[in-house]
Amino acid sequence: MVNWKKIVFNAPIAVVCFLLSAVNLFAQASATAQGQTETEIFNETYYDTVAILILGVVVLIVVGFLYFGQGAGEETPEKATASVWGKIKYFLTRSTPIEKEKDIMLDHDYDGIKELDNRIPPWWTYLFYGSIIFTIYYLLNYHVFNSGLLQAEEYNQEMQVALMQRAELEKSGVLVNEETVTLLTDAGILNEGKDIYTANCVACHGPLGGGLVGPNLTDNYWINGGGIKNIFKTIKFGVPAKGMISWETQLNSKQIQAVASYVVSLNGTNPPAAKQPEGNFYSASDSLKGVN
Ligand code: HEC
Repeated sequence: MVNWKKIVFNAPIAVVCFLLSAVNLFAQASATAQGQTETEIFNETYYDTVAILILGVVVLIVVGFLYFGQGAGEETPEKATASVWGKIKYFLTRSTPIEKEKDIMLDHDYDGIKELDNRIPPWWTYLFYGSIIFTIYYLLNYHVFNSGLLQAEEYNQEMQVALMQRAELEKSGVLVNEETVTLLTDAGILNEGKDIYTANCVACHGPLGGGLVGPNLTDNYWINGGGIKNIFKTIKFGVPAKGMISWETQLNSKQIQAVASYVVSLNGTNPPAAKQPEGNFYSASDSLKGVN
């Protein structure tokens, strides 16, 4: 009779020997073919190959144990049942059906509570097999064929794409920042800016920009710098320590550009009860030129 037990337990060793020599041969062949050094090739394939080897060996050993390790050759309930599924199930879980419980009853009896010598529950065993299958997929996908990106690579790639998209948007004018922003004087945009101002800014800067808690926005004096670029920057990032919040998360760059342009358009309107000037002088033409 063929000694399957011996074969299964010796197979891993044979596989390891075979694959180790295969790696060596492969390395030499490729090195000559592509002009790469043996070390380079070896480093590339080494970890992948070792990982596959370990996995293969583990799977073989697990299968070996499952098949021969426990209860081999015993007359079992499942073997008695003729159904193929029954046999597969028994092979995978070795569980004892309820009607055969008597066979695995232990001698212990604690006030009528009896103990069964059960194996690990089937659901646990199936999870275990599932994890083995998943491991194979994972290893092949991420470490052998490199078809899946590891976290760090994925992150870098997404960042690159985002940077490219951002550069594209900035170039096309859809997205403006404090460096690229220009003053807009189009009446439609200024109206939009006025709406944004009315909805968000009047509480602190007054309905006409004369200033309340916040400073006067209609004079030529600016604490954080005048001109469209500085004003855009102040609105975008705010001056949180002084009570001016950052609007970056609530307004998009186009909206900030519109409200900043509206603020610039308020220059010299001199509303009643305006606050005293604060900050440094910027001429009206500085604002229009968008000085920094
Ligand atoms: C919660 C009150 C508050 C709200 C709301 C507010 N601001 Fe301000 N803002 C301030 C304060 C306070 C300052 C002064 C910051 C400083 O001293 O540096 C300020 C400063 C500014 C400045 C710079 C003024 C300068 O002299 O440098 C601009 C421009 C500005 N706000 C625009 C806006 C716009 C536009 C909105 C609406 C989208 C807005 N603010 C909403 C309180 C507010």
